[in-house]
Amino acid sequence: MAELDRKPDRAPVPKDWTYAPAPESREIVRLQDRYGHFIGGRWIEASQTYETISPASEERLATIGEGTPEDVDRAVSAAREAFADGWSSLPGSERAKYLFRIARLLQERSREFAVLESLNGGKPIKESRDVDLPLAAAHFFYYAGWADKLEYAFPNRRPKPVGVAGQIIPWNFPLLMLAWKIAPALACGNTVVLKPAETTPLTALLFCDVLRQAELPAGVVNIVTGDGRTGAAIVDHAGVDKIAFTGSTEVGKLIQRRLAGSGKKLTLELGGKAANIVFDDSALDQAVEGIVNGIYFNQGHVCCAGSRLFVQESIYEPLVEKLKRRLETLRVGDPLDKNTDVGAINSAMQLEKIKELVAAGKEEGAEIYQPPCRLPEKGYWFVPTVFTNVAQSYRIAQEEIFGPVLSVLTFRTPEEAVEKANNTPFGLSAGVWTEKGSRILWMAQRLRAGVVWANTYNRFDPSSPFGGYKESGFGREGGLHGLEPYLRFEE
Ligand code: NAI
Ligand code: MG
Repeated sequence: MAELDRKPDRAPVPKDWTYAPAPESREIVRLQDRYGHFIGGRWIEASQTYETISPASEERLATIGEGTPEDVDRAVSAAREAFADGWSSLPGSERAKYLFRIARLLQERSREFAVLESLNGGKPIKESRDVDLPLAAAHFFYYAGWADKLEYAFPNRRPKPVGVAGQIIPWNFPLLMLAWKIAPALACGNTVVLKPAETTPLTALLFCDVLRQAELPAGVVNIVTGDGRTGAAIVDHAGVDKIAFTGSTEVGKLIQRRLAGSGKKLTLELGGKAANIVFDDSALDQAVEGIVNGIYFNQGHVCCAGSRLFVQESIYEPLVEKLKRRLETLRVGDPLDKNTDVGAINSAMQLEKIKELVAAGKEEGAEIYQPPCRLPEKGYWFVPTVFTNVAQSYRIAQEEIFGPVLSVLTFRTPEEAVEKANNTPFGLSAGVWTEKGSRILWMAQRLRAGVVWANTYNRFDPSSPFGGYKESGFGREGGLHGLEPYLRFEE
């Protein structure tokens, strides 16, 4: 006891958080110089190509196929054939075996996938290793469990697969978004044509090797790479029965217009501008960790990022003070270093967008704070940023920045917090920090958001449905709800 008593107060945050470099080895990844499209279980040479790079170094990684409408057509035909040729009529318990195999293989090869994900996308290895990969495997495990229980999930509704699903995914969680799309589709007996985002195709291409190892029948999953034009060709293809899209609200609206009247099923997982709301009775240090995780996780390239922080006025000063101090300890740099907290911005284009909105924030009169920070010379980087003195009308409080930039606003009463939090065209997620359970429930009932986290943030689980209100899209992914978009019912 005496020992403890003599301990001084908690030491102040050291000024220098320099760590020795702890780089994860790249050796485990074997890149091909050139990749084609994966169609009908085979690699098809691409007629048009582009280069994929590492955003942390701008180093070229590989040559990638730019899918043409003809490539998409071949992929859809292969998927249709595989659908008719047995996959859709396979007993659910048999389909489950493939999904379980895929899940196990992802776990076995998780280090390889994590390194490749960080290399191609710029996210810190500790996140791809501890979040993306375990969650991707968990999604396959979870939906494997549903494959033979669809009749119980939807009693008396005679669930049947929809057919060929066209799936278009973004670059912020490349492999995880692939898992969110492919696992429920296959569990329900559909076949798939998936297009990864143009900046991050490599883990989807490596995933084709997992499919080979799992001996998944040819044509059940087809991967066509390319940019928005390839995506548009998937959306427009008459042989596709369902489109699942995750990406910008702008493209989501475009897709919805293209599909109007086509009879194709559609789910859209779009942008967000989530409110993270901190009441004066919350545990402040925990809240600060949640705020940091909410907006600086994955460089803020997160649709459900807590990008608008609402602080109750009475704790505004101490909270912002703690937050700024915490920011000084974030390590920005090499994504493959195990100590890195904030990696590279995914692309030059995204960096431009972040810079533009930050400039608008300053222009409109917000006060900017950025901790001292040395950025690597090559690659795309942005210092973790906090804006205070933000009005609700500012662009940085209205528009999705999709970068490590937080806007801080204040409120006095719970009613005001709800009103301000809901004052957005989006409605994907929200966070509430308070010690009162009754207040959490009161808030959760009133926040127009698909997910409301209480005293935590950015927590994901395959059994929990995820999706939006308003311009954040419609349809749910994850959980029992995530099966429905991939089924039709013969009631
Ligand atoms: P995007 O929506 O253009 O790209 C997402 C995916 O859609 C990519 O695979 C892309 O190739 C594809 N795509 C693009 N145009 C298409 C079209 N006409 N038809 C079919 N598919 C198409 O997003 P982008 O340009 O990469 O990012 C712009 C902004 O969108 C970001 O700054 C961010 O605010 C937001 N965004 C939101 C995401 C989310 O998870 N909610 C993910 C990615 C971006
Ligand atoms: Mg775009």
